[in-house]
Amino acid sequence: MDYSKIKIPNHVGIILDGNGRWAQERGLTRSEGHQEGFNNLMKLTEHVFKTGVKVLSVYAFSTENFKRSKEEVDFLMNLFENKFAEYAKDLKEKNIRLVFSGGRGKPVKKKIIDIINKCEEITKECTNGIMNICFNYGSHLELVEAFKKMHTDIDNHKFSIDDVNEDMLYHYMFQDLPPIDFLIRTSGELRLSNFMLYQASYAELYFPKTYFPSFDAKEFDKALLEYTSRDRRFGGINYETKNN
Ligand code: IPE
Ligand code: IPE
Ligand code: MG
Repeated sequence: MDYSKIKIPNHVGIILDGNGRWAQERGLTRSEGHQEGFNNLMKLTEHVFKTGVKVLSVYAFSTENFKRSKEEVDFLMNLFENKFAEYAKDLKEKNIRLVFSGGRGKPVKKKIIDIINKCEEITKECTNGIMNICFNYGSHLELVEAFKKMHTDIDNHKFSIDDVNEDMLYHYMFQDLPPIDFLIRTSGELRLSNFMLYQASYAELYFPKTYFPSFDAKEFDKALLEYTSRDRRFGGINYETKNN
């Protein structure tokens, strides 16, 4: 694709959905769907950054996903435990920083928390882009934690309540990242499921029917074409393109 004619969003969010249905359609187990989803994520990440996107946030496991069967949760936790370090190594070679958003306590195993901290440590100097994996993530949890941290800083006289503003809230999120410009949810579901509610307030939304394991570079380019066609107004009016 000729990327010079394409508008490239600075921060892309992807809600990785449909692993289970992808597997079911092929007579495979849900676990096999998750495995394939993760393999796809590794391939897709490389492509996304090649297009010029600077920040990619992916929703990999929500705070609510712990409601699933023990078998499914255990499989996913093992997958993350085995894959995150390899993923970090891969990203480091591409000079991409890897960060994680989400709770870093129970019910996540300490071993996984240690791996996450290490992944962040080894890629912290990378400058080509930021890959943000939302793991044990929920927007409600993030906002509650943000308000608690802010309250503590106010108590410690770092600033006063009157100094609080909209931009400041970003610094209190799990990661201090810019707003999401383009939010994709695969699999055809039309909801946000507790993903980045503050950061996505002006994101362009896109809901392809494709299940995540099949959402490849070609599908991502199609999404970029769609983004390019959108008129982002942020509450204003583009008088140049209006003739009445
Ligand atoms: C997304 O796929 C991955 C996670 C939520 C961990 P799903 O597991 O939700 O797949 P479907 O929605 O059941 O097809
Ligand atoms: C959202 O997908 C969470 C992730 C993709 C990690 P779900 O499949 O859990 O969402 P619901 O239950 O359909 O809303
Ligand atoms: Mg789902």
